[in-house]
Amino acid sequence: MSGKIEKVVQSKYGQVARSGLSSEQEGVRAVAQAFGYSPDELASIPAEANMGLSCGNPTAFASLRPGEVVVDLGCGGGLDVFLAARKVGSSGRAIGIDMTPDMIELAKRNAAKADNGRPLANVEFHLATIDHLPLPDASVDVVISNCVINLAPTRRPSSAKSPACSSPAAGWPSATSPLSSPCRPTWARTSWLTSAASPGRSSSTITARDSSTRG
Ligand SMILES: C[S@@+](CC[C@H](N)C(=O)[O-])C[C@H]1O[C@@H](n2cnc3c(N)ncnc32)[C@H](O)[C@@H]1O
Repeated sequence: MSGKIEKVVQSKYGQVARSGLSSEQEGVRAVAQAFGYSPDELASIPAEANMGLSCGNPTAFASLRPGEVVVDLGCGGGLDVFLAARKVGSSGRAIGIDMTPDMIELAKRNAAKADNGRPLANVEFHLATIDHLPLPDASVDVVISNCVINLAPTRRPSSAKSPACSSPAAGWPSATSPLSSPCRPTWARTSWLTSAASPGRSSSTITARDSSTRG
């Protein structure tokens, strides 16, 4: 069953990745701005990284610090990865995870021009599901996610047994399986498929942080 759900989600988002949606289009820009991205933020990253799929702006309230390692679960074309990469700087790293091959290919193409037309060095993208992160234990400081958790069949981001993060934290919001996540998660969530099918439905933004990790 969960394999079936993943295939449908992959197929839908594969179509979106190939659709040519981007910040070049006024409607797509308007959606992103309505969910909290500033015009300056959108102008600072490749236009194709924004397809109007977000339902919040996690890097606006994640308080990212230089040198941190951030992972974005369900990164799409890399929108929040590129914004996070600027905040953590060259001593940090922003990692995007997505299970849709077309999204990861798009994100990598975007990365190749994300530094004023040149490759952005401190980003990486991996094709994977969010419940099997291809990252070493204790290698991540912050988890962000934007409009993804509700699409995951298990809703269990990452590795109860193999934590990618480095210090004890608040745990995942109750909408997901309770997981004593070892890093501070910051995300915006909703089901894009649901809200697209029912335009009147509201989406929600959730943040959860562990104050003990905030120094
Ligand atoms: C609504 S889009 C959001 C994309 C991006 N976060 C943004 O704001 O532009 C959802 C993304 O999550 C990915 N996704 C959905 N379920 C996933 C899962 N279980 N594991 C990894 N990626 C997933 C989809 O392929 C898609 O790219």
